[in-house]
Amino acid sequence: MKIGFRKILAVVAAGMLLTGQSMAAESNECGKIRPGEIWKDVKGDTINAHGGCVIFADGKYYWYGEHRAAVRSLPQEGVTVYSSPDLTTWTYEGLALRATEEKGHDIERGCIIERPKVIYNAKTGKYVMWFHLELKGQGYGPARCAVAVSDTPAGPFTFVRSGRVNAGIMPDNLSKQEASGCADEKMEWWTPEWRAEIERGMFTMRDLNGGQMSRDMTLFVDDDAKGYHIYSSEDNLTLHIAELTDDYLGHTGKYVRIFPGGHNEAPALMKRGGRYWMITSGCTGWEPNEARLMTADRIMGEWKQLPNPCRGENADKTFLGQSNYIMKLPGEDRFIAMFDKWDPKSLMNSRYLWLPVDFDAEGVPYVSWKNEWSPRK
Ligand code: GAL
Repeated sequence: MKIGFRKILAVVAAGMLLTGQSMAAESNECGKIRPGEIWKDVKGDTINAHGGCVIFADGKYYWYGEHRAAVRSLPQEGVTVYSSPDLTTWTYEGLALRATEEKGHDIERGCIIERPKVIYNAKTGKYVMWFHLELKGQGYGPARCAVAVSDTPAGPFTFVRSGRVNAGIMPDNLSKQEASGCADEKMEWWTPEWRAEIERGMFTMRDLNGGQMSRDMTLFVDDDAKGYHIYSSEDNLTLHIAELTDDYLGHTGKYVRIFPGGHNEAPALMKRGGRYWMITSGCTGWEPNEARLMTADRIMGEWKQLPNPCRGENADKTFLGQSNYIMKLPGEDRFIAMFDKWDPKSLMNSRYLWLPVDFDAEGVPYVSWKNEWSPRK
């Protein structure tokens, strides 16, 4: 039987397609991003980098995230880092920040490390990492942020310090005169009186001397190179936006409270067309809820809330995920919104939902569900 060259080509192509399809079921290779599927690194290991961020440095993408154990009771190893030339093929670079065995250290193994974010400081030439830190054995009580620094994107990062934010300093948009004098935290939850006291900074004042709480967080570097730390404060009731020092290693003391009592977590920020846009979640722990979109002309506000930016299947539950980070592609007017689909029974098994950001005729960002897409132009 004579088999033509074309037929052979067709058989080879079909074979490649089949292999491609079986890879699609479990991997993120082949230049495609498949939100919610298991993503593997080049060695075939499942990527373990949750609640993190992606930066572009020295011609490569670096993805930092929370290392998570298979079982909730097992400790985290620290912050993992992967590198990629194309956002789909990832090589494990090791632990960018390692939890230490040293007893009593802020990042002693057994602590909780969440939402690590890395920014590059052009003045100092250093990579600066901030993350949410809970001290070993203290649940979510300490509500601290922590900072670490490195000369190279893959690290290892050196731990600098952890603590609450801006101790003893009033926010720019709350004066001592108008602040709540109410120290009665036992006030009935969610009564209009309680809500009014929250707005007047009942918890800001409670934490004034010791510093403001900082849990879910992100970082943002503006066009003028100023850095900002955006975090859920005041028992997760109110977001704060705090300016970082020129070296990004500390806070300047300038900060604002936004949406007091709004219960915003998981902030992710981007800037486009001179406007700031932020996606957040509500506060339902690991369970998904409806995302929120906010916008402002200036980073310190006034911020305005807009409708849910998600569209498509499960849009009312953020595609069953929670916002985490928005990445601007280097040198392009394109952004990727990154969400985590948490699996609280095995946080290691949580999935990544990366989706392109679209813009409507007014320039308002929105995110549509896609089973598969390519980050290439
Ligand atoms: C979520 C938060 C996560 C983690 C979790 C713990 O609301 O976004 O980062 O802190 O709560 O229950």
